[in-house]
Amino acid sequence: MKYATRLVLNYLFFSVLSFGIIIFAINKAIDYYSFITIEKRMIEKADLSEMSLREVLAQHRSSTDAQQTKQIARLALEKLKASGKEVRIYDSGKQLLGLAVDGIIINDGKPLIFEKNIEKALNGSYAYTVTEDHLLYFATPIQDQYYQNAYVYEFVEDVSYFYVMMDQIRYILFAGAGGFIVLITLSSLWIARNTTKPIKVLLGATQSFSRQEFRRVHLKRNDELGMLADGLDQMGQQLDNYIQYQKQFVSNVSHELKTPLAAIRGFSQYLYEGENENKELHKIYAHLLQESDRLTRLINELLLLSRFDKNSSGELEVEKTEITELVVQVASHMAAKAKEKNIQISIMEAEEQEKPVRGNRSEVCANVNSTLMSHAIANLVDNAIKYSDHHSQIVIETERTPSEVVIRVRDQGIGIAGDELERVQERFYRAKNANTANGSGLGLSICKEIVERFNGYIDVESQLGKGTTITIVLPQA
Ligand SMILES: Nc1ncnc2c1ncn2[C@@H]1O[C@H](COP(=O)(O)OP(=O)(O)OP(=O)(O)O)[C@@H](O)[C@H]1O
Ligand SMILES: [Mg+2]
Repeated sequence: MKYATRLVLNYLFFSVLSFGIIIFAINKAIDYYSFITIEKRMIEKADLSEMSLREVLAQHRSSTDAQQTKQIARLALEKLKASGKEVRIYDSGKQLLGLAVDGIIINDGKPLIFEKNIEKALNGSYAYTVTEDHLLYFATPIQDQYYQNAYVYEFVEDVSYFYVMMDQIRYILFAGAGGFIVLITLSSLWIARNTTKPIKVLLGATQSFSRQEFRRVHLKRNDELGMLADGLDQMGQQLDNYIQYQKQFVSNVSHELKTPLAAIRGFSQYLYEGENENKELHKIYAHLLQESDRLTRLINELLLLSRFDKNSSGELEVEKTEITELVVQVASHMAAKAKEKNIQISIMEAEEQEKPVRGNRSEVCANVNSTLMSHAIANLVDNAIKYSDHHSQIVIETERTPSEVVIRVRDQGIGIAGDELERVQERFYRAKNANTANGSGLGLSICKEIVERFNGYIDVESQLGKGTTITIVLPQA
C-alpha cells in the first residue's frame, strides 16, 4: 500500500471513529435533555391542574358518599377537561371516576390504563409512559384535606411535535456529520498529497543517484525534509565529484600509458621476429607480445569508455544502419575465433517481421554509429565464444518489433548466477565462474554505454550451466 493511501486511511479511520463517538454522545444527550424538558413541562402542567382540583375538593370538604365523590370528580373534570387530549380522574381504589376526551366529558368510555402509573401516583409520586404513537400518559396524585392521596389525576398529551423537533435536530446533526466527513476526506487527501510530494522528490533523487545521474536536489522548506534534501544534494555532489575524479584519473593514466605501451609492443614484436634460435626466448617474446596486445586492448577500451564519460555525443557520426547486415559482418569477423573452439555461429531473423524490403529479406534498421555498434555486438559474440564449451552453438537473432530493433546473442555456455546478472554490466566486474577465460570485465559495460548512447538498452538473461542470452534493444530508425 502506498504511503499516501495509508496516511489517508489512518487519518480517516481515526477521524470518523472519534467523530462517530461524538455524534453518539450528542445523540444521547439530545434524548436525555429532551425528556427532562418534557417532564418539566408536564410537572408544571400537573401542578396547575392539581391546584384546580384541590379548589373543587375544598368546596366539598364534607362529602363522603360515593355518589357525591363522583359528583366532585365530574365538577373537577368540567374545569380540567380541556387540559389534555384526554383527562381522567381515579379514586384511591384505581377506579375511573371521570373521563374527558378532546374536551368532552364521556360517561362510559374505556380508557387505556397504565396501572403501574396509577399505583405510583397513589404512592405519592408522579409517573408517565410514552406510547409508540407518541402519546404521553402522565399520572399525578391529588391529596384530600387529610393529606391522603385520595385521587389520581391523569392526562394524555400528544408529544409527537417533540419527536419531530428531535428528528430535525438529528437530521441537522447527521447532515453536519456527512459534511464533516467529506471535508475530512478532502483535507486528508490534501495533507497526504502535500506530505508525500517532497518524499517523492527525494525518492526520485535517490533513484536517479542509483543510475549515477547526480542532479541537484532542493526543497523550498526549512524543516527536517528540507534538511534531508540538502544532505542528499551534498551527498550527490560529492559522489559525482568523486566518480568524475576517478574517471578522469583512469582516463589520464590510460593516455599516459598509451605511448610507452606502443613502444613496448613495438620492441616485443621486434624481439619476437628477430629471435629464431633460442626457442625459450622465442616463447617469452611471444608471451610479451601477447600480453602487450592485451594491455593495448584494455587501454583502448578504457579510452573508449572515458570518451563516453565526457558525454561527447556530438562527435559521433550516426546514420541509419541495417542491423542484420552489421550482425553478418561481425559474425564473419568472429568466425575464426569461434572455429578455434569448433563453435558454430548462426544468424536468424525472427518470424514476425514485416514485408521484405530488399530481396526476400526485410530491413531491420536503427540510427547508430556502425563502428561502435559492431564493437558492441562483437563484445557480446566474444563473450559467447569465451564462456562456451567446444562444439557448442551460438545463435544471433535479429528482430523488428513495431517500434524497436532487437538483437539477441544466445549461447549454451557456463551461464551467470542470478545474483550477478545486474553486476556483470558494471565496469571491471567479472562473475565468480569467469576464470575459465581471460578478460578485464569491461566488454559488457562498453556494450551498455554504446547501446545507451543510441537510446537503447541491454537485457541479460542466463541460467547457470545452461547458457546466456544477451539482448540489445534499439529504437527503430
Ligand atoms: N555469454 C556469457 N556467458 C557467461 N558469462 C558471461 C557472458 N557474458 C558475460 N559474462 C560474465 O560477465 C562478465 C563481464 O563481461 P565482460 O564482457 O564485461 O567482461 P569480460 O568478458 O570478463 O572481459 P572483457 O570483455 O573486458 O575482455 C564476465 O566476466 C562473465 O563473468
Ligand atoms: Mg567480454
